[in-house]
Amino acid sequence: MSQVIVVASGKGGTGKTTVSTSLALALTRKNYKVLVIDCDSGMRGSDMMLGVTQKLVYDLSDVISGTCALSDALYECDGAKGLFTIAAPVLAEDEISPQIMKQFIGENKNNYDYVIVDAPAGVGTGFESAAIAADRALVVVNTEPISVRGGVNILNRLSEMGITDARLVINRFDKERFLATGLYEDLDEVIDTVGIRLIAVVPEDVRIAALSQRGILATNWCSSTVIFDALTERLKGNDVPLLIKL
Ligand SMILES: Nc1ncnc2c1ncn2[C@@H]1O[C@H](COP(=O)(O)OP(=O)(O)OP(=O)(O)O)[C@@H](O)[C@H]1O
Ligand SMILES: [Mg+2]
Repeated sequence: MSQVIVVASGKGGTGKTTVSTSLALALTRKNYKVLVIDCDSGMRGSDMMLGVTQKLVYDLSDVISGTCALSDALYECDGAKGLFTIAAPVLAEDEISPQIMKQFIGENKNNYDYVIVDAPAGVGTGFESAAIAADRALVVVNTEPISVRGGVNILNRLSEMGITDARLVINRFDKERFLATGLYEDLDEVIDTVGIRLIAVVPEDVRIAALSQRGILATNWCSSTVIFDALTERLKGNDVPLLIKL
């Protein structure tokens, strides 16, 4: 059965698109068929991180308006068989409404094992459109109070929308910096403040930024492949160690 996962954060730039695309890639490494839907209208980024920008012609708004067929707007990633993406509209004003998004995902999700929805930052209508059809959510935070507060806000909105299966991803974790700032006693304090179970701690890693920003799929070993392979196991309910200790 298909699963729809929204990747969200209150604060911008926490790593939602990096997490969405890295998770999608990890799932295809396990031979799942995956669709990444970019819901960040006006600020799309998944196409770049998945390396399909050069061949991009149509986006989600073209499908919804009937300008093209769905198959024309689905782009399969080179080097990752079974990983498809559909881009967000170029213009913010072409944002897809929650009702239409719900219908679109409902009609198409069963063609995939996983649908990963990359949400825009914040708790506005764009977030609602991204989350409306989700079975579960990944809430991405960095270890800073503003980011953590954003995570709490997202969680409240998810709960109002009836999405109760939410797990926490701590991204860009830098132990030295974390300890030096002294903002939190330990990672448990971050987790307790957001108030949901942790599913992954992704380290601050220049290779993650370099690969994803160039649209090069992280198929060779780097911290990203290990962390996200483990995350896919935990999504399936398997007990895999977290790989990071404080
Ligand atoms: N674990 C990481 N290590 C190093 N750099 C990272 C990591 N995760 C993300 N980044 C970098 O942080 C920046 C923001 O990441 P990303 O675009 O994924 O965030 P976002 O939450 O999707 O942002 P937005 O809110 O604008 O959509 C990018 O430059 C990305 O390469
Ligand atoms: Mg993004």
